[in-house]
Amino acid sequence: MSIRDKVVAGFVTRYGQPPDVVVRAPGRVNLLGGHTDYNEGYVLPAAIDRAAWVAAAVRTDRQSRVLALDREEEAVFDLDAIAPRQGNWSDYPRGVAWALSERGLALPAIDASLASDVPVGAGLSSSAAVEVAFAWAWRTLAGFDLDRISLALACQQAENDYVGVRCGVMDQVASACGRAGHALLLDCRTLQVDPVLLPETAAIVVADSRVRRSLAASEYNRRRQECEEVVRQLQRELPHVRSLRDVSPETLAQWAHRLPVELYRRARHVVTGNARVLTAAAALRCGDLAALGEAMRRCHESLRDDYQVSSPELDLLAETAWSVGGCYGARLTGAGFGGCVVAVVDSGAAGNLVECLKRAFRDHFGQLPAAYTCHSADGVTAQAALTG
Ligand code: GLA
Repeated sequence: MSIRDKVVAGFVTRYGQPPDVVVRAPGRVNLLGGHTDYNEGYVLPAAIDRAAWVAAAVRTDRQSRVLALDREEEAVFDLDAIAPRQGNWSDYPRGVAWALSERGLALPAIDASLASDVPVGAGLSSSAAVEVAFAWAWRTLAGFDLDRISLALACQQAENDYVGVRCGVMDQVASACGRAGHALLLDCRTLQVDPVLLPETAAIVVADSRVRRSLAASEYNRRRQECEEVVRQLQRELPHVRSLRDVSPETLAQWAHRLPVELYRRARHVVTGNARVLTAAAALRCGDLAALGEAMRRCHESLRDDYQVSSPELDLLAETAWSVGGCYGARLTGAGFGGCVVAVVDSGAAGNLVECLKRAFRDHFGQLPAAYTCHSADGVTAQAALTG
């Protein structure tokens, strides 16, 4: 049964009527630009063909009910008195309702079912996919006019201020604005999105270490604070610096001796990362996959050594991919501390890459990683749910 059929059937079984709308919001891989988004820099994600699906219908009272089919749990919440975060999956729909209401949008209560094939905690933006799916469901059912970027910002606010993770805006924009066959060059200061064609000869392979780090959220927030601290120190003499986006690699190098070494390395990752995204996106526009792959490799090394968000499992997967014929490049994707590596590979070599990654991982760690090819996908879509 497809996930679409599953959310519709689950909805009908639980709520005794067909849904009004079915929404699909994708997860994403990030090809370049790790941890640059919350520094107002550049990123190059692509939405993928793994997604959160929501089937929903309007209710006439103020109680919303959301059934998570993968967990067989239902959350009920009052739209006029949204409770504080609970620390579980239901924070995402509840947080989105809160963020949309904060914008003065009148939300109807809904019944909804939810299912997803974006693995949770793997760095593929499972939470952003759920947020964007619910935001789009409410947008469709209420008929309010919220453009995709504004919707992504509302979802980011839900994650920042309701869920409590100070993420950037990349994941929500990728899920909202993805384009099949393309990556998205996103300027996280201006929020301009430029689709960049991915050559058809290339495939995207994802390898999941299956390592889930509970520290990811606290370490993530700590990295963000470290970047803010560098900005504070630079601002003493460089008042035009609003974020690390305003700092060139050369300027930062001049400051090397005045910053604590760890902070310097965090900032070096970000400022060189911005440069890598722009150079590689320009090369990709000319079909230069080798340049993209080389930048992915350097990005991983920088995330490993300067930003220190990699792990032995991710390093092994990335290094294995680098050594396989036909693979252009590979890096950890998402926040790090576990989760997935993404590789760009010649389509004809993708099967061999998957096998090599599985074998190397099993030989080192005694278990098989999940490894598969995925395809870039369109951003969030809604369909009228006329058929089961
Ligand atoms: C997570 C966050 C994003 C981004 C990445 C790292 O996916 O949600 O905003 O910061 O980590 O690039």
